[in-house]
Amino acid sequence: MIREIVQVGDPVLRKRCEPVNRFDGELAKLLDDMKETLKKAEGAGLAAPQVGVPLRAVCVDVPEGYFELVNPVFVWQKGEQYGAEGCLSVRGKAGNVRRPEKVKVIFYDRKGDRYSLVARGFFARAVCHELDHLDGILYIDKADGVRDEED
Ligand code: CO
Repeated sequence: MIREIVQVGDPVLRKRCEPVNRFDGELAKLLDDMKETLKKAEGAGLAAPQVGVPLRAVCVDVPEGYFELVNPVFVWQKGEQYGAEGCLSVRGKAGNVRRPEKVKVIFYDRKGDRYSLVARGFFARAVCHELDHLDGILYIDKADGVRDEED
């Protein structure tokens, strides 16, 4: 089911999200809906608060694959990159943000099994952007100016 993507100004985007503690059918449904919603919106990532659910779960859709990260935590961050970002909750805008070049994250999948991944480049940028959402942070808070997106 496609869910509505909440837009900047909605207080749910500014919450510190709660950890997921039940790996049940409700979580599976949320993640399925987030995937469908993200694919339709053709974005690189979506965090649960963006569909109005203040839980620590995100999905990322990048050339490396499709990933669901539940209760993700950084292990380390290395290097630096600087480039353009947008957000499905800040429609029609873009801005340049400094991010680490490479990150390692531990997380759980929808069944509650624990994994880790290393992401670099755009993948790392997407992971960092989505994890920020879980702490109520939007890229516009970090960007060197926000402009209308050209397409
Ligand atoms: Co976003």
